[in-house]
Amino acid sequence: MKKVTIGIFFILLSLTSCKNESSIETSKTENRGRIAKKAMVVSARVEASKIGVEILKAGGNAFDAMMATEMALAVTYPYAGNLGGGGFLVYRLADGTKGALDYREKAPLASSKNMYLDNDGEVVKDLSTVGSKAVGVPGTIAGIFKAQKRFGKLDVGTILKPVIELAKQGYTVTKQQEKRFTEYDSIIRAVNGKKMLYNNTIKAGDTITNLALAKTLQRIANNGHDEFYKGETAKRLVDYLQSKGSIITLEDLAKYEAKWRNPITFQYDDLSITSMSPPSSGGICLNQIMTMVEPFDLKDYGHNTLKTIQVVVEAEKRAYADRSFYLGDPDFVDIPTETLTSAVYLEERMSNFSFRTPTPVDSISHGKITGHESDETTHYSIVDQYGNAIAVTTTLNGAYGSKLYAEDLGFFLNNEMDDFSSKPGEPNYYGLIGAEANSIAPEKRMLSSMTPTIVEKDGEFHMSVGTPGGSTIITSVLQTILNIHEFGMTMQEAVNAPRFHNQWLPDEIRMEPNSFDDKLVQQLKALGYNINQTRTPVIGKVDGILMLDDGTLEGGADKRGDDTAVGF
Ligand code: DON
Repeated sequence: MKKVTIGIFFILLSLTSCKNESSIETSKTENRGRIAKKAMVVSARVEASKIGVEILKAGGNAFDAMMATEMALAVTYPYAGNLGGGGFLVYRLADGTKGALDYREKAPLASSKNMYLDNDGEVVKDLSTVGSKAVGVPGTIAGIFKAQKRFGKLDVGTILKPVIELAKQGYTVTKQQEKRFTEYDSIIRAVNGKKMLYNNTIKAGDTITNLALAKTLQRIANNGHDEFYKGETAKRLVDYLQSKGSIITLEDLAKYEAKWRNPITFQYDDLSITSMSPPSSGGICLNQIMTMVEPFDLKDYGHNTLKTIQVVVEAEKRAYADRSFYLGDPDFVDIPTETLTSAVYLEERMSNFSFRTPTPVDSISHGKITGHESDETTHYSIVDQYGNAIAVTTTLNGAYGSKLYAEDLGFFLNNEMDDFSSKPGEPNYYGLIGAEANSIAPEKRMLSSMTPTIVEKDGEFHMSVGTPGGSTIITSVLQTILNIHEFGMTMQEAVNAPRFHNQWLPDEIRMEPNSFDDKLVQQLKALGYNINQTRTPVIGKVDGILMLDDGTLEGGADKRGDDTAVGF
């Protein structure tokens, strides 16, 4: 939002915006999501949100509920919920302390830079996306244990009990799930060599139990973190993976550690935004885009209007170009974060922006820095009754990850290795281009776009938000925050509103089909933008929690999925 400093104009503007806010307030009450007085969990499945709330009601806090919700998603949402993947947590404690936890997967010790290339140096199709070679060393169990151990209040047995019960008793399949089990049946069968628990005979309304997963979770409840990384589960997992040709060893599992990271924090108007730092690109890119759009008066341009879309798209282009060149695992590469997020650098980046015509992608590339500076994911947001807030995004990468299903253990393995750059300039599954900073090396973490984010206003908790969606995660989180802050939407309206996306390359604006006015699309085309309304049926599936002026919480559960807010 443009900052206005001239006296009288400022007063007039404030009066206008007050008027706007009060008229928006009326529509807000009509279109609010679920309201809760004290605490709330919003996730991709009703059972997972309910179990999170059950743990909170039992006296647990957001970090206890995180462990329960994450594992309940592994039971009920095998598409992305996982034990075989990884993720990121961003938190804000009741006292205002903020932090982040990285439980991203790592490249196995035996991995190498060119492991997905053939003798001619070409990328071997599907090798980094399907089957055992695609699997990174999982981080999820390490992540939920590290967070719960430091901040949680309950014992692990109490937290996992309802989840184990859920795996034993089963959950009801939804229409969306039936569709996906059918859609992915042939590839899951092909990778595993036989029909698996999740297959095309399952219909909406059926109950699915997962006794193998119940047993795995029971062993983890009994023996803790080491069960997964050094115990019986580790041995069974590695035996299974190696029988399928994986290079992951017991040493890989034993060496895996989740890491506390300093999150990225920045200001946008009167908001203070905290988001995930590398190895996710989410926080830096969100910071870059928001700083680039801040001087423009988006509120005045209006939601999803030609001018707003132009400004946002051009800022996105520049941020994604920087992402592809500079970002990678901070334990392996020096990232010039300070420069990349500085107002001076970003002003320079936008200096060739014009409303008259798109900035050509080949004239953008990554920005110059002088000098030296020292298809599936799921997101859930939790606010507890003690005032702690968390935003967690976790993933197997693609739908059902590598499709490799450890039948004996009851879970899918990720295909996160595809988030590395297999070859400079070669797009990955999400069309993202990478360079040396994100090349493969033993024990390195692959670059992510996951953007779990917490927003504060006037020093108080304001919003927890995040989404799946691969490369579109960053731009979906961005639009949700702008929808609330600039365009006065409720949390529910903000997550439901149609979204667009630009990631520098390919040179196109992706727009959700049947959601944008045809006239607007024609105007963008006339200016020279390439529009793609077919690539993805939906962009992001955002879940968030907003604190309202009276201190109650509004849940925003994206209409694009089975997502549900539960609170008390
Ligand atoms: O870490 C990342 O950026 C990707 N592996 C996320 C994948 C994802 O969001 C898939 N969901 N649609």
